[in-house]
Amino acid sequence: MEAIKVGLIGFGTVGSGMAQVLHEQAGRLQKKVGTEIVLKRVADIRIEALPPHLAGIELTRDVQQVLADPGIDIVVELIGGIEPAKSFILAAIANGKHVVTANKALISQHGSEIFAAAHARGVEVGFEASVGGGIPVIKALKEGLVANRILSVMGILNGTANFILSTMTDQGLPFATVLRQAQEKGYAEADPTYDVEGIDTAHKLAILMNLAYGMSIRLDEISIEGISCIEPIDIAFGRDLGYRIKLLAITRNHGDHVEARVHPTLVPEDHMLASINGAYNGINFRGDMVGDVLLYGYGAGKMPTGSAVAADIVDIARNILNGSINRVPALSYRHEHLRPRRITPLEELQGPYYIRISAVDHPGVLSTISGILGKHGISIESVIQKGRNAQGSVPVVMVTHDAREAAVRQALAQIDALDICTARSVKIRILVDDGEEEH
Ligand code: NDP
Ligand code: HSE
Repeated sequence: MEAIKVGLIGFGTVGSGMAQVLHEQAGRLQKKVGTEIVLKRVADIRIEALPPHLAGIELTRDVQQVLADPGIDIVVELIGGIEPAKSFILAAIANGKHVVTANKALISQHGSEIFAAAHARGVEVGFEASVGGGIPVIKALKEGLVANRILSVMGILNGTANFILSTMTDQGLPFATVLRQAQEKGYAEADPTYDVEGIDTAHKLAILMNLAYGMSIRLDEISIEGISCIEPIDIAFGRDLGYRIKLLAITRNHGDHVEARVHPTLVPEDHMLASINGAYNGINFRGDMVGDVLLYGYGAGKMPTGSAVAADIVDIARNILNGSINRVPALSYRHEHLRPRRITPLEELQGPYYIRISAVDHPGVLSTISGILGKHGISIESVIQKGRNAQGSVPVVMVTHDAREAAVRQALAQIDALDICTARSVKIRILVDDGEEEH
């Protein structure tokens, strides 16, 4: 059997990782696939030369030499961003090539167009590396959990944000220092605000929701809050209260509507997701048949992500060899069964909150604040008030019983407008995960 030939566009962190995986695992992959998988050509606008272990592979600056080469079966796009990545992928599909990408920004926003083009042309698009780095999340959802109605997905989906939060928690290092470390390790996006402001996590959540529910969701339908507002004081209070702060992606299936949100969350320290630290990701699927499934592993980085890209290449190679292209539909549900779903507005959500109010340390302040919360139907479970700072201001930290998001917002707006408040209040949602799901 003739070798399966691969062309790569973008020899950066993930591209070089994928090339190394194919090189180091060549013998093993041949035994598993039944033929050789050969990286034929690499296109990159910056790279001057390939490393010595890749001697013999052609390097070009001209992407057309990958897109139009009739000898290439699978085009791997690893440049990131929307354009020109999207045009490259559509051109590859038009030329009858299968495509593999790790580009979650592109798949979450233009996946429908790309999958429709691939479906029409009878080629496959693999995007395993777009969610969870090296963790086989997409395959789990498409194949392993295929016989389930997905009730919820909850996950730490951004290695950079998790690395920042856990390093700030454990080592007390400032945000900027830790972000720089994540960039040096190759975890961060070209624009790291995507990582810290929750946008990258939202891209991944959108992809998971497409697969879980057979729906398509626009990015602006997801409520997104990042971690740049998290201060060391909230990490410390959170610890005192028995929580870890994590940037979570959350979707729950309520039947006629589904939640879609990304925000910093106080996770009880005995919850599985609380112990996922560093650049690790953790994704908890809850299915109606299987119950809870937790996947855990490196969510970013050269070799883990390269391994996921190589897994897609192998899947496609096997399907080419078996004549079973598109055996598994790109979004698991068949094209004709994809349908829109109503997204639960964030204001309708109900749960406990951590609230930190900065106020002057005068008699009556606490009763004024609790009075406003009470008027909005928010009852307080516990209060911590610690020593005043140099400006005479004290942090008043409260944990509420279940409250409606809309009521919390209104109450805090009213509290922030008081003369006794010295800075904007902070609110962080607290995760409640008792295994009970609404249907
Ligand atoms: P890098 O920036 O490290 O690599 C991209 C490479 O592509 C660079 O060498 C870049 O050159 C080159 N390039 C950019 N534009 C073009 C072009 N038009 N033609 C040819 N080459 C081009 O990115 P990553 O490897 O980190 O990320 C690649 C993709 O993988 C992204 O979609 C990212 O979101 C995704 N991803 C990344 C992970 C990670 O851990 N890094 C994990 C999971 C997914 P130059 O530097 O000059 O722009
Ligand atoms: N920037 C992303 C992260 C890469 O830090 O998780 C993996 O998708």
